[in-house]
Amino acid sequence: MILHTSKIKKTFGGLVAVSDLDFTVRECQIKAIIGPNGAGKTTVFNLISGILPPTGGEIQFQGKSITRLKSYRISSLGISRTFQNVQLFSNMSVIENVMIGRHPRTSSGIMSSILSLPKKRKEEKEVRKRAMEYLEFVGLGDRFDESPENLPFGKQRLLEIARAMATEPRLLLLDEPASGLNTKETQNLSRLITEIRGRGITILLVEHDMELVMGISDEIMVLNSGQKIAEGLPREIQENDEVIKAYLGED
Ligand SMILES: Nc1ncnc2c1ncn2[C@@H]1O[C@H](COP(=O)(O)OP(=O)(O)O)[C@@H](O)[C@H]1O
Ligand SMILES: [Mg+2]
Repeated sequence: MILHTSKIKKTFGGLVAVSDLDFTVRECQIKAIIGPNGAGKTTVFNLISGILPPTGGEIQFQGKSITRLKSYRISSLGISRTFQNVQLFSNMSVIENVMIGRHPRTSSGIMSSILSLPKKRKEEKEVRKRAMEYLEFVGLGDRFDESPENLPFGKQRLLEIARAMATEPRLLLLDEPASGLNTKETQNLSRLITEIRGRGITILLVEHDMELVMGISDEIMVLNSGQKIAEGLPREIQENDEVIKAYLGED
């Protein structure tokens, strides 16, 4: 297994967002986390990626505890993510947004690679070349010099994926990557996620688009009110009474 949580918990004041949650992600798996809004899915990502400290419990990545590590350390160990609300730097070009992603893998800092200090020129060139490869991988090679704000929303999501890929993660966390995408874009995304896994990267996916989830996931975990209510193969989840209830109860 690549990731394992035991009894992770997160409370916000009196609210229990994630409650004693145990789960495992296996190497090279595409695992989905589904559940109604407010179930705690994004909070789980925030705990894994170190954006929020857990209130309790333990998170292990590749056999080592990452529970108390800062987010930049977790990123350098090989976990990267995208955000439910796309987070791009509008004052930087498309390619620079990907180059930022390379930061944990280069010896010089962000500023020197972007400002091109003379002795960092060679490294900067290499970073740019790799960033371009990731842009091409997600189909944005021709938009490298534009402002991310010029990109339609679906392409902004792809840019975020390119940036996350540029950190060369072992585990990629995708938070609602199909949200706001049309059918064709979602099909393209589905192919892309499968290709990323084909490169040996493990995927943990939070998503509401059930066609996407059921189509590509090896395993699905269902959260409701911070607790796991089901876990299994897509077919098992589709037939699970408690899952159906959790979703119907929402309406
Ligand atoms: N930073 C925060 N501060 C306070 N409450 C939060 C915070 N983040 C999430 N919550 C609350 O925790 C619960 C779970 O939220 P979230 O993890 O975003 O759910 P999901 O991603 O499944 O929709 C919600 O009730 C939400 O309002
Ligand atoms: Mg969320």
